[in-house]
Amino acid sequence: MAIRKVGVLGCGLMGSGIAEVAAKAGLETVVRELNQGFLDKGMARIHGSLAKAVEKGKLAAEERDAVLGRLSGSTGFEALADCDLVVEAIVENLDEKKSTYAALDKVAKPGAIFASNTSSLTVTQLAMATSRPERFVGLHFFNPVPVMKLVEVVRTLLTDEAVLADVNEFCRAIGKTPVACKDNSGFIVNRLLVPYLLDAIRALEEGVGSVADIDEAMKLGCGYPMGPFTLLDFVGLDTTYYIANIMFEEYREKRFAPPPLLKQMVQAGRFGRKSGRGFYEHSR
Ligand code: 3HC
Repeated sequence: MAIRKVGVLGCGLMGSGIAEVAAKAGLETVVRELNQGFLDKGMARIHGSLAKAVEKGKLAAEERDAVLGRLSGSTGFEALADCDLVVEAIVENLDEKKSTYAALDKVAKPGAIFASNTSSLTVTQLAMATSRPERFVGLHFFNPVPVMKLVEVVRTLLTDEAVLADVNEFCRAIGKTPVACKDNSGFIVNRLLVPYLLDAIRALEEGVGSVADIDEAMKLGCGYPMGPFTLLDFVGLDTTYYIANIMFEEYREKRFAPPPLLKQMVQAGRFGRKSGRGFYEHSR
């Protein structure tokens, strides 16, 4: 495989998951965070996830040690200089992403592929912020990364065929199924999922059913693993609000417009699991 060393920018929920699956697949993996505090937190999440896998008998203790041996962290970009692929999973903010790519571009080797885990920004505008738009793709992972099998592989008008072949091979090597997507805001999954989640909130606003009953209905009536409100709390109401705003900006269609209740819950700090309260109470 052309991709042997992987860099991950950002060690939050998604970045730590991506780093974990890459290192588990036998690839040398380096994660970069803004500061030591964020890095320690992200690394602790990976350690915790691997420990749980050992506890459940899914991973041998020696294998865990080997995975951790392949994994390193840094607060600088230089550690990513010899990576074949760098996956960015930082905050969903265009300016932040552009300045991160500018710094990465200066140190990454010429042949390195850049990928963004953006869930709603278009990939083309990110690719154009680098000197290598033809070596730039979207690789959209799903939460929880170690469990969810899908990666949306997003090509732009400029992406090289050889780069697509390499990232598809990478996805399969880390145990994921790649699906090809055009560079439209939301790609396939969020294009369909976000209006569904927003509609569940609108149904609640209209008094169609309670939070618990709407969740139960979609779980039992459609066989979904989680009802929409459980999923909203899981993904994060702030994240969903942010994505919906970007998609509404792009399409100007009502189905992507965040309902008032979502906006107010975000303003009130009810982000879901991460803040301890969303549509449900969560012990932290
Ligand atoms: N890391 C590793 N493994 C995990 C995990 C995690 N964070 N969370 C759960 N698992 C594993 C468990 O260990 C368990 O494994 P086992 O069956 O081998 O014992 C398995 O997943 C099932 O977990 P649980 O029994 O604890 O709980 P559930 O059966 O309820 O499954 C779930 C949990 C996998 C999260 C399931 O509820 C689910 O699939 N929910 C929907 C998730 C979803 O839709 N994600 C996509 C969100 S959208 C997105 O990410 C895009 C973004 O742009 C917004």
